[in-house]
Order: sequence, then structure tokens, then C-alpha cells
Amino acid sequence: MQLSILLLTIDRAAADSLTTALGRPGHGVTVVTDAVELFATAAGYSLVMVDRVAPPLTVAAVVEELRRDEATAKIPVLAIAQSDDLEERISLLESGADEVITKPFDPVELEARVEAVSLRFQRSLSATPVPTLASASIGDPNARRIIAVFSPKGGVGTTTIATNLALIAAERHAKSTLLIDLDLSFGQVASHLNLQPKQGLLELVRDDSALHEADLFRTYTIHHPSGLQVITAPPTPGFASLITAEHIELVLARALEAYEVVILDAGATLDDRMLVIFSRSDTVVVPVVPEIPALNAVHLLTDQLSETGAMGGQTIYVLNNTFARDLLRRTDIETALGATITSDLPYDPLAYLKAANEGVPLVIGSPKSAAATRLRDLADTVLGKVTTTPVAAAAGASAEPRKERRGLFGRR
Ligand SMILES: Nc1ncnc2c1ncn2[C@@H]1O[C@H](COP(=O)(O)OP(=O)(O)OP(=O)(O)O)[C@@H](O)[C@H]1O
Ligand SMILES: [Mg+2]
Repeated sequence: MQLSILLLTIDRAAADSLTTALGRPGHGVTVVTDAVELFATAAGYSLVMVDRVAPPLTVAAVVEELRRDEATAKIPVLAIAQSDDLEERISLLESGADEVITKPFDPVELEARVEAVSLRFQRSLSATPVPTLASASIGDPNARRIIAVFSPKGGVGTTTIATNLALIAAERHAKSTLLIDLDLSFGQVASHLNLQPKQGLLELVRDDSALHEADLFRTYTIHHPSGLQVITAPPTPGFASLITAEHIELVLARALEAYEVVILDAGATLDDRMLVIFSRSDTVVVPVVPEIPALNAVHLLTDQLSETGAMGGQTIYVLNNTFARDLLRRTDIETALGATITSDLPYDPLAYLKAANEGVPLVIGSPKSAAATRLRDLADTVLGKVTTTPVAAAAGASAEPRKERRGLFGRR
């Protein structure tokens, strides 16, 4: 798709580098330095980009004016934020920009954003739905599933389990595994995977088109070198309240449309957004630690959720041995929990800490460790065991969670 782009900037160096970067995929770029000239000619272009303007005018004011004038109101606008400041990006989105890209950016990211914003515009003009990338590339939709990792208590290994499971899933479903960080206040997935997100869930939920179209939704993911796609949590706790249960509902619906396996780090906060996650997940993995009060808390919660019918899928309890010694017997743990432990992870402070500090999860950084082996066993339970014989594959566990759901929380 080749576009005619009108760029407003007073920065000559930025004009040169943007013209070169956008010229490479074949877009034509016209540069103007004066906003009045931009307003007069914008209607003839397929996309407007606003970089820098001479004070006291602001980029947000230019975008607002484009939106106010009927002749330019519908043109896709990509605004360029000069810094990583979240307030600046949000104010640009609020002024009416369709997309905001933050400096510095690489040409590949710029090209992807330009294509996304233009595609969105064309979709809004066309009444006929265009087949999504997902439906073209992914097989049987019944094989798709959502796996949430949640614990009512923090610091028990939720993020560790979610990131490792997602990396194992990505080995099996290359390019079609998505990890979403839904620990809305304190999400640490980006840090566990050593990613530096420029956009994530917060930007996604502000884009109504992306919440309704799978291929626009995909433009908000970050690519981990393993092939895993990631949507990161808001950058600071203050933004968590901007994400509603309705947003989560739409995010999960699009995720399932666009990806084969969706893994959620659901954190430890129980609210109406979490109830949406529970009701949409095929499997909820609950890490527990060998500590009676914490086990009692999980038991109480599971009782309550069972009574209200809040969960639709199966639940898998993982005992995470975060203490050096076994102070409790497994039967005591299962009694306090009121359910069976499916899997357990060994105590290994160095391996876990190294993984978290270096941003390289265990299954990649210490693949031969006992912890990595147990995480792979857990993945076999959750995702289905990988097998080479066609007969066994056909009967494999990967299709089972939907057919053979155990009772709520796998209770005994
Ligand atoms: N089996 C284990 N042995 C030793 N240390 C562990 C083990 N599992 C996790 N840890 C350590 O516990 C800490 C918490 O892990 P993680 O961040 O995965 O938990 P979380 O439940 O997501 O925490 P938060 O509530 O802060 O999001 C990390 O420092 C991790 O290295
Ligand atoms: Mg966490």
C-alpha cells in the first residue's frame, strides 16, 4: 500500500530522516513547516503526520484543528511524541490523533504504525469486512484457548509461571502465542522478558478500532526474540483504573481471534475485571505457596467463586516451593487448599532470581535446571503433551480442556 503523506515539522533533520524512512516502502512524503499550509492542503493526502511546530502552537492544537474542520476531520493523523512522557502521548491521543509514535523509533516500527493507521482508515470507509490475517493463518479455532495465571496473594511466582508457560507455548505455536500482562497496577512481564515497551494495554484500550478488529489489535503487540507476542501492562499503577471490565472483555475476544494460545498474567487483584478473566479462561493456573494462611485464603476464594459460578474452565494448582525446607506435608497442603495439587516447582532462589534480574526466563536461561523441567511438565498439562505419533497427537491433551472440563477448581 503506497500512501501520500503530508508531514508538518520545523525540524529539518527529522524531515530528512522521516522522508528517507517512509520513502523506502514507497510512500510519497511532502514536508511543510507551516500549520496554515498544512490545513490548506491536508484534504488531498492519505495520511497526515505532525512532528514539531513552532511555539506557542502545539502538536495537540494542530491535531484538534484538523479534527474540527469538516474537510480534514476524517484524515488519518499520526502524531509524533518528542519524548517517552506518557502524559504527552495521552494528550496527543485525546486531541484526536489516530496513532502516536514516540521518538526515537526505528524505521520498521514507523512503517508498521503508518500502515496500521492507514489500514484502520480504509476499514472505516469500507462496509465489507476484510478477512483478518488471523483467519488466514490460523487453523482450527476450537484449538484456541486462554490460560490465566492468577493468585489471590502476590509474590508467589505468578509472573514467573506465566512468562515461562508463554515461552514454551511460543515454541509450539510460533507467532501465534500471545502473553498479556493483566497485572494492571504492578505488571512485571516486560521486565521478566527484558522488553522496553513503547505501547501496551493502555494504548490498546484507547483505540476502539483495535478493540474490534483482530489485525489492528495485532499492531499493539511487542515481539520477543523467541517469537512470543506480548501486550504489556500500563507503565505505572495510576493508569490501572482507566482499564475497565468491558475493555478486558474486548481484549480477550480479539486475542482469541488473532492468536492460537493466549496466556494471561492475571496478577493478584480480585475485582470485576478479574471476574471477566475467570469467565473467559479455559484454564486458570493458581500458584500456591506452602503456607497455611495463604492456602486458607485460596480455599475461601475458590469456595466463593464456585458458589457464584464465576469460573467456566478447569483450575490447576501449582505448589511453588518458595521456602528452603518442606515444613508441610503435601496432604496437609491439599487439605488446607481443599483441592489437589497438579504440579510443583522446586525451591531454587538463585535460578529464579537470576532469571528475573536478567530478564531471561528459566526455560531459556537455565533450560536444564530442575525448575525448567517442572515448568515444561506443567506446560504439558496445560497445553497438551507434544507427541510425534499422529494417533497420539489426535487424542492429545491439547484439545481436552474444552471437552473434559473438570468441575470448578478441580475439587475433590
Ligand atoms: N520456587 C521458587 N524458589 C525461589 N524463589 C522463587 C521461586 N518462585 C519464585 N521465586 C521468586 O519469588 C519472587 C516473586 O516471583 P514472581 O515475580 O514470579 O511472583 P508474582 O506472584 O508475579 O509476584 P508479584 O505479586 O510481585 O507480581 C521472584 O523474586 C522470584 O525470583
Ligand atoms: Mg507478578
